[in-house]
Amino acid sequence: MSDIKTIGVLTSGGDAPGMNAAIRAVVRTGIYHGFKVMGIYRGYNGLINGDMFEMDLRSVSDIIHRGGTILKTVRCQAFKTEEGIQKAISMAQVFGLDAIVVIGGDGSFKGARDLSRRGVKVMGVPGTIDNDIGCSEYTIGYDTCLNTVQDALDKIRDTAYSHERCSVLEVMGRHAGYIALNVGIASGAEVVILPERPFDFNKDIIKPILEGRNRGKKHYIVIVAEGVGGAVNLAEKIEEITGIETRATILGHIQRGGSPTVRDRVMASMMGAKATELLANGIYNQIIAVKAGEIVGIDIEEALETKKEIPKDMLELSTILSL
Ligand code: ADP
Ligand code: F6P
Repeated sequence: MSDIKTIGVLTSGGDAPGMNAAIRAVVRTGIYHGFKVMGIYRGYNGLINGDMFEMDLRSVSDIIHRGGTILKTVRCQAFKTEEGIQKAISMAQVFGLDAIVVIGGDGSFKGARDLSRRGVKVMGVPGTIDNDIGCSEYTIGYDTCLNTVQDALDKIRDTAYSHERCSVLEVMGRHAGYIALNVGIASGAEVVILPERPFDFNKDIIKPILEGRNRGKKHYIVIVAEGVGGAVNLAEKIEEITGIETRATILGHIQRGGSPTVRDRVMASMMGAKATELLANGIYNQIIAVKAGEIVGIDIEEALETKKEIPKDMLELSTILSL
């Protein structure tokens, strides 16, 4: 069915809880399908440097519950140059890699697409807390991140309640507001600011806070996505204009760690398995995606053209529910 005998697997870009479960699935199902599986360290860096080793069934024991990635990850600038990519291609030949499974985000998939355009067979598995892969309804790590942020926000709400303050929470999401919006709905935030939606400071932040106060609210949560940023500055301005004591919290990398939730472990296992199943059937240069709830493979060129939009009804709901 397939002339692929040896596959490589790497993790790239920002780590995400569940990446280990995906690696485990690629290794175990890969071996099940008869592949030799090579683990590549530090994303495209390891490919360029030939930093890889053969993985066996036991290489992935005891990792499904661990956050981070046992293969490590980097953001590799060298891979964005023609020289870097050519080095990577020749290393893939040295180690006899017939296909490479890339577990990562949008940037990592652009790198995979560059490899595919030069004749290297690839398969992408979405792993990023941002949930910003256009072709997929879900990305590995997103659910764990949401739960981590929610847990932190519940704690922040306790103290905002006691002090009758406004709390501004900055959450991750470089270009995407999925974390901010979902946690905003889950926590009943008064204000949610996303990179996808332009905002007016007075109309979209000050007015809802003061209207809430006039209806009897005593504490306030403002969530701002990292893509917009400026939580500290925002908090200062809110306090200055409303007279309500305001504090800012930037959650940072706590959002990327931790033991993956059941959803992330199961999705990572299924998406990793789908990648090797397709390779075993001679299908490659695809991104594994969740589409209408199904796990499918989508051609990498088409996948990278697909854009995802923040659902308008969720945006509206977040405003209505915080009245
Ligand atoms: P993520 O995969 O989480 O979006 P990055 O955007 O940092 O993370 O991308 C991870 C790596 O993928 C980069 O360090 C680089 O090696 C590679 N990469 C990113 N963007 C491109 C691009 N436009 N072309 C080729 N490779 C890219
Ligand atoms: O892509 C995941 C992500 O956590 C983004 O939300 C964030 O902007 C970025 O990575 C941070 O990257 P780094 O860990 O390199 O600072």
